Amino acid sequence: MSTREDYGIGANRSLVSAELRHWIREVTGLLITDDNAAPVDLALRIQAEQLRLPPETLRARLLSGAIGAQGFIDEITTHESYFFRAREQMQLVVERIIPERLRRAPGRRVRVLSLPCARGEEPYSLAILCEEAGLPPTLVEIVGGDIAHGCIESASAGVFGPLALRRTDPARAKRWFRPCAGQALCLDPGIVGRVGFRRVNLLRDAERLLRGPFDVVFCENLLIYFDAANVDRALAVIGRLLAEDGWLFVDHAEWNLPRQRFEMQELDGRVGFRPRRSAGADAGHGAERADSAGGLSASPPPPAAPIPPSGRTPPRPAPSSRLTAPPSRREPGRTAGAQASDAGRQRQLRQAEADYAAKRFTEALLGFEQVLRRSPDLPEALLGKARLLADCGEDIEALEALESLVAGAAGSRQVQADALGLMAVLLHKKGLRDLAAQYLRRVALLDPAHPSLRLLGRRADG
Ligand SMILES: C[S@@+](CC[C@H](N)C(=O)[O-])C[C@H]1O[C@@H](n2cnc3c(N)ncnc32)[C@H](O)[C@@H]1O
Repeated sequence: MSTREDYGIGANRSLVSAELRHWIREVTGLLITDDNAAPVDLALRIQAEQLRLPPETLRARLLSGAIGAQGFIDEITTHESYFFRAREQMQLVVERIIPERLRRAPGRRVRVLSLPCARGEEPYSLAILCEEAGLPPTLVEIVGGDIAHGCIESASAGVFGPLALRRTDPARAKRWFRPCAGQALCLDPGIVGRVGFRRVNLLRDAERLLRGPFDVVFCENLLIYFDAANVDRALAVIGRLLAEDGWLFVDHAEWNLPRQRFEMQELDGRVGFRPRRSAGADAGHGAERADSAGGLSASPPPPAAPIPPSGRTPPRPAPSSRLTAPPSRREPGRTAGAQASDAGRQRQLRQAEADYAAKRFTEALLGFEQVLRRSPDLPEALLGKARLLADCGEDIEALEALESLVAGAAGSRQVQADALGLMAVLLHKKGLRDLAAQYLRRVALLDPAHPSLRLLGRRADG
């Protein structure tokens, strides 16, 4: 059985030292463990290449403060997001919470903060819902903040790739986006103008740079990457940014986290958090139902939320059965039900591949993700998703999918060769030629006629 070290991005000795992990945790809050060190290692190599420095020198300069950290922070943060990701919470805010607050304090603008906002998908989704609900910018202010400078630049431009709309209703997409250059989609300028963006670090300068109080804060899919101490620091900051009777929303995988400082409440069947009224209040014991956006009544505790992980890459479910070829006849010891479910997965996979071939990227991504939810290590699905991400310019996400494929050393010879070949092409594109050449040598062993060798071969040999 091959190990991650044999195949992964970390095939070269990892540059992610204990000092660097400590530094990242202090500066960003992100917890880096052995499980999620490989993308950090890659980020360091990419930035070093861009700066024409040996990676060890870049690391030393980052640690000593001799070089600005922003470029590296942009590289190591995961900006995965899409429009209407937290659709139900957003609908609750736009249809119930904002109107009630406007009724209670007529003439006062309701303020909503999306932190982190990635490339703007979340605050723009809120802006679209407000626009559709007839809530003008004079009544609702929307602010987006993120630690990554590149995210803020990209968000301000309001231009998105097709994957950002993978969960957007087509009629809505047609109404608010128009095709611009290549596959890019430009958001309606009226919506772009509704959101103010700011580069902020939640743990360091959010209170200074963002003027509170906000009526609603969305802090989705960030706390999950922090350890307990930084979760607490982050929640303390959010508590100070939030109005006393405000609402905090986090992803359902993070529901366990705010309970020390916030009360979990149910409103119209959705879960949100509100600042605790007294410091001595009991923490983490079930939800109270809000019978209006303010009043409370007791309700039974919510179903146990999953325990959040503590690394950059949320853990995958335990590996399930691999599917490298459709079963041709009943295998001994396997039930007919299991075989039928394998056949169903194969059908989904083929459909996703057909969608990808026809450039129906949104449908293809949904298909691959559906298959991967049931079989997280399925090599063909990981490869399909990685190809699609690479085609849409999401190179780092593509490399992450490929890395887990080659680390598992699963799949046919051809799948491994294709995965290694695509890794080589992406690494080469990022300027990491030596690393790309190492992968190409592996491709040559598996498939001497592989197209990636023709594409990059001469450079790899030289
Ligand atoms: C996975 S995205 C989540 C975006 C969006 N909230 C969502 O749920 O789709 C995580 C974002 O957190 C940002 N981030 C990481 N550390 C941060 C910090 N200390 N302060 C502010 N943003 C941070 C990253 O740059 C990245 O864009």
